[in-house]
Amino acid sequence: MRTALFPEGFIWGVSTSAFQIEGATDRDGRGPSIWDAFAGGRYGDPACDHYLRHAEDVRLMRDLGIAAYRFSVSWPRVLPEGHGRVNGPGLDFYDRLVDELLAAGIAPYATLYHWDLPQALQDAGGWTARDTARHFADYARVVHDRIGDRVDTWFTFNEPWVAAFLGHASGVHAPGLRSAADAFVGAHHMLLAHGLGLEALRAGGAAKAGIVLNLSPVLTPAQLGDMSADVPEEDAEAAARIDTLHNRQFLEPVLRGRYPAELLPLIERIAGLGHIRDGDLGLIGRPVDLLGVNYYTPITVQAQPSAAADPAFPGSEGVLFSSVPTAVTAMGWPIMPNGLSLVLRRLSEDYPETELMITENGADFEDVVTGDGIHDVDRISFVEEHLRALRTSIDEGARVRGYLLWSLLDCVEWADGYRRKFGIVHVDFTTQRRLLKDSALWYRDVIKRNGLGSQRPKRPTLETVAARAGASRATVSRVVNGDTRVNPDVRAAVLRAVQELGYVPNAAARSLVTRRTDSVALVLSVPRHGGEALTSAVVQYVTSVLEGAGKQITLMLADTAESHRRIIRHVEARQVDGVVLVPPDGPDTLTERLARTGVPVVLLGKPVIASLVPHVDVDNAGGARAATRHLLDRGRRRIGVICGPMDLVAVQDRLNGHLATLHEDGLRPAIALAGLDGASGAAAARELLSGDRDLDAVFATSDELAIGAMETAREKGLRVPQDLAVVGFGDIHAASCTTPPLTTVRVPAADQALALARLLLSRLEGRHTSPVVLPTRLVVRATT
Ligand code: FCB
Repeated sequence: MRTALFPEGFIWGVSTSAFQIEGATDRDGRGPSIWDAFAGGRYGDPACDHYLRHAEDVRLMRDLGIAAYRFSVSWPRVLPEGHGRVNGPGLDFYDRLVDELLAAGIAPYATLYHWDLPQALQDAGGWTARDTARHFADYARVVHDRIGDRVDTWFTFNEPWVAAFLGHASGVHAPGLRSAADAFVGAHHMLLAHGLGLEALRAGGAAKAGIVLNLSPVLTPAQLGDMSADVPEEDAEAAARIDTLHNRQFLEPVLRGRYPAELLPLIERIAGLGHIRDGDLGLIGRPVDLLGVNYYTPITVQAQPSAAADPAFPGSEGVLFSSVPTAVTAMGWPIMPNGLSLVLRRLSEDYPETELMITENGADFEDVVTGDGIHDVDRISFVEEHLRALRTSIDEGARVRGYLLWSLLDCVEWADGYRRKFGIVHVDFTTQRRLLKDSALWYRDVIKRNGLGSQRPKRPTLETVAARAGASRATVSRVVNGDTRVNPDVRAAVLRAVQELGYVPNAAARSLVTRRTDSVALVLSVPRHGGEALTSAVVQYVTSVLEGAGKQITLMLADTAESHRRIIRHVEARQVDGVVLVPPDGPDTLTERLARTGVPVVLLGKPVIASLVPHVDVDNAGGARAATRHLLDRGRRRIGVICGPMDLVAVQDRLNGHLATLHEDGLRPAIALAGLDGASGAAAARELLSGDRDLDAVFATSDELAIGAMETAREKGLRVPQDLAVVGFGDIHAASCTTPPLTTVRVPAADQALALARLLLSRLEGRHTSPVVLPTRLVVRATT
């Protein structure tokens, strides 16, 4: 493989932020911030105790050869009340830090707002108050007056999208509000603050000033695998809308001095336009010297007419944030290095004059501290692959001046607290000891050679595990293949080595010394009523994809306790490399027992404990919402629901979607429980239609139940749909043959089957994966 050296003068660095590392939240006169309140003492202090250990951290960076360090200034440390009184000792801290950095030969890059608003300003309205923007400019001036003689690169804001929408719309970040209107108003005031802050920095003589945005390409699931895939028009519309909300809402005002034309009506509908005053956009659009790009993962969406808006994306009605079988980080974020290239290509095309810097990129993976270090191969590969993508973009002409890795230290990952590990330096939060991970040493080499070497980072092999465990290769192989006859002490030593080295015993590795079976079990339960079509799609597509990948399929039927035992024995004996499981309806111990064998298992449908195994599911709640909304749109207001069996997670999700939609319109539900078949649907309908409720519609969580309800209607002399509209779920064959034909929700059988097969292939390659959720579609026929 060729080396990938970077242009001369390319800047290598790391990023951090104040709240995530400093600790010392009430030291030396610092005022409270919105994140102190949000964290409620659970994290944030001592964090990495960087306030007291900054000298050590600067030495660490110097030893790694870091050229630039992007840190953020804590507003409440400098201005405890947000404005007015300046806290001298707080400013002194940044003064010392900057001096230490310069003495170590590291360029300081300062970010002024990385989300820790002074609580006092929040109490006065926070970002929904226009005054906050003015206070920000004053704060910028105070900080620049003190360290501006030595800091020449400035960023006003970090990721205003996150601060505005996760903070004010979905409420998963501080200040934890849930108002779509506040989020749009807050975003505008942040942009205004950026403009005013930029002016203040320039007036002070700052050499380079810009803003940091979190940018992600917005793709359809098909594009994630293949960028040349055809995109249906409605999916293209969904992707464009999310791109506008997430990326262009910030890019266009900052770099072009305007809001995207299609965004304004949306803002107007949700928040009005009163907060956008004449002259604002002129200020916001003053030229920047540098755009900071934070890139972690793409966003995948497709059209789903019934989907309610995602709380973080007000205005995203009708868009399903979907998932595809792909490798993810521990955070569950899909890994797509090429996504960085897509972002950079779009910036080079749309804003060719803008100089760029990658201000954040990195990954959360679980680490294991061993006697001889932290072998974080996954993190190294992540950064490596992104640097390769970056190198290609630079070749294509992207004007990227540097790369700042997120992050120097394991630190507070906002609402997730300490459990996320993004650092290339491990921090033991009880002792505050710092330990370089392999990724730090690897990054040091990248910096030294100004790029990537010709060798890819080496993943641990069977040999490395054997050497570490003091066992033979054959023994290691027997242990990782589940052979229980190995001496327990040796077995424990091997398993420890496997864990410490981050060794992934994938199918290929297995084949080194043992039987790689190259076969996969397809375990089927007897299909539930109406499930035959899905089961046959699974058989057909799973077989064709997996056979295409060189696997042999062993079909196993899980219908009796004995068959369950047989399946477990077969898998435990490693007769197969992996399992595709269509679990039984209702109580299911098979999934759990298979998950415990350690053999990769993927599942059709969401298990009760959704994190148990990777699975493929359909958007049941969204389908039910579509069905209910459709009835409401047809003027039906007295809607009953027939649901069951209630131990099925899919049924629970459908009921929840239905109830949520009624709730939106202030309507009360009428619920009757049922089982699986038409007769129980008919009985439930009788229960609903007796009494004085006078229903004008019924939604059933399956087509069988809906068909039963139609029988009851006929029995009672009710005309469908004139007197009673009926909607089912599933679109089984019979749904189109009833009189009149049944309106229902179609679940994508072939897509589910294909996703299952691909998910298993990812697992066999030893990759982390997250669940896949596919959209459903309303099929309108004559019963409504
Ligand atoms: C970015 C934030 C940064 C860190 C990383 C993982 O969105 O800017 O503070 O949390 O994500």
